[in-house]
Amino acid sequence: MASTVITGIGELVTNDDELGELRDAALVCEGDRIAWAGPAARAPAADHAIDVEGRAVLPGWVDSHTHLVFAGERTAEFAARMNGEPYSAGGIATTVEATRAASGDALASTLRGHVAEAVSQGTTCLETKTGYGLTVEDEVRAARLAAGEADEVTFLGAHLVPSGWDADEYLDLVCGEMLDAVSDHVGWCDVFCERGAFDAEQSRRVLTAAAERGLGLRVHGNQLGPGPGVQLAAELGAASVDHCTYLDGDDVAALAGSETVATLLPACDLSTRQPLPPARELLDAGATVALASNCNPGSSYTTSMAFCVTTAVLQMRMTVPEAVRAATWGGARALRRERGDGAVGVLRPGARADVHVLDAPSAAWLAYRPGVPLTYAVWRGGHRLR
Ligand code: NIG
Repeated sequence: MASTVITGIGELVTNDDELGELRDAALVCEGDRIAWAGPAARAPAADHAIDVEGRAVLPGWVDSHTHLVFAGERTAEFAARMNGEPYSAGGIATTVEATRAASGDALASTLRGHVAEAVSQGTTCLETKTGYGLTVEDEVRAARLAAGEADEVTFLGAHLVPSGWDADEYLDLVCGEMLDAVSDHVGWCDVFCERGAFDAEQSRRVLTAAAERGLGLRVHGNQLGPGPGVQLAAELGAASVDHCTYLDGDDVAALAGSETVATLLPACDLSTRQPLPPARELLDAGATVALASNCNPGSSYTTSMAFCVTTAVLQMRMTVPEAVRAATWGGARALRRERGDGAVGVLRPGARADVHVLDAPSAAWLAYRPGVPLTYAVWRGGHRLR
């Protein structure tokens, strides 16, 4: 297996408790894995050498929440929002209609385009969801397409009750035939637990049916107002609860006392003119926080994890190390991929060689130079993609 040593690293963020954050560092990739990380003076020899001339090196971003299997766009809805209209769950139906009408080739091409856009900005591990099909056939099509492009795929048949359906009859379909049909293509099941979508008991029903089929659980919760999503996610041992915009003290305590990651989606909150989530309170209470893009055509049309990190630092009172960790290790933890052989979101021997080189001397520049594209080079599984 060929090896490459990356030298001249001004700042190396490893997210590894023992290695910590290093200056004047080097990193060795062998095949698709990290083989060594440490001080430049002790770097072993390798087949190839690349000098990054004092730049910062981070694990690739881990974007643990996206909705990339879709057709169409919703500029008119966005413009109306910027003119004072509120965001509502009902907008999802517009994308469902466009997605059902699109060919598989068109959906695949859009999906690949967005994944490539994310990779070019440093994202090296990506989750995406179904949820704009909402028929057995359309959800299976979305799951299959997603499985071809993303690291992790989540079934979100319980995104909205489609028009013309009674909620209980639709849930019978989701919890029976639809879950059976998608289970081979997905690792996770999600539910939009929110007023206007599914209530606590309906959400519990979906998650229980998914757990019985061996799927991991996640929840869209507390996005548009206070609600039961966070408590339900913690109670059922979901890997993450995503959004967490409206939390009370009991929600924060439940997250701090559980293994459920609070995945914050600041680009979505900005784009829907919601308050930003209480990141500081979560971190201070001891909860695990992830940052993700929530890229979708309705509430958050961006693939930029750097934008999320910048916002978290400038507006959510996270420090740079906290925000970078949340967008790398935190996302990996939300996907349960932060440990063991082939781990992502970390740079330690045995981890997947997912490396993001910034055109900057330190990660602080992500917030210090907001909005400036800083991705210099990207490796995913040892392959240089940019
Ligand atoms: O995470 N909240 C539910 N789902 C998406 C929105 C999807 C849409 O508006 O199309 C979200 O924000």
